[in-house]
Amino acid sequence: MNLLLFRILVVIKLTKNNISFGSLISDNCYFCRNIIFMIFNALKPKIADLISGSDSKDYILQSICELLKAKIPHYDWVGFYFKNGDKEELKLGPYAGTVTDHTVIPFGKGICGQVAVSNQNFVVPDVKAQDNYIACSISVKSEIVVPLFVEGQNIGQIDIDSNTADPFTEQDERFLEFVCQSVAAIL
Ligand code: SME
Repeated sequence: MNLLLFRILVVIKLTKNNISFGSLISDNCYFCRNIIFMIFNALKPKIADLISGSDSKDYILQSICELLKAKIPHYDWVGFYFKNGDKEELKLGPYAGTVTDHTVIPFGKGICGQVAVSNQNFVVPDVKAQDNYIACSISVKSEIVVPLFVEGQNIGQIDIDSNTADPFTEQDERFLEFVCQSVAAIL
């Protein structure tokens, strides 16, 4: 059986049994982790193609957000925030998912604002356990933010919200670092 057919059968079986892919990821399903790894690997050349194309920067960033949200089962909101000029704040850039009120985030506030200061990836398995967290939607259970560097400067970040509890692994961190490094080439 070819891989595509196999994946389709798995998704049909999960759907018929009312099992969300996200719940299996948080249960640390080895098989699901492998599928996610394959999805990440399949997305990398698509991202590289988008970046090497002649479309505008905003179109490329928007397309990346939509691609990640559509193809990665535990990514429910995907967006970029960027440093707002000389101000110590982040401004929302292209995103895919529900509209958010948090279009400007001061440095130090929330998960995003903390990453603007720390320059480190921030993985939040359970948003309820965070004191310094800005809620965008009651359905969000977890979040990952990865900083975006251009010439060594932290100029923004990619932010992912998930409606699944504790779904993010080092695979997500490596993949999102790849996305940020790729995007840095057009900023
Ligand atoms: N939760 C983020 C705010 C941005 S929304 O997720 C879109 C934070 O705590 O910084």
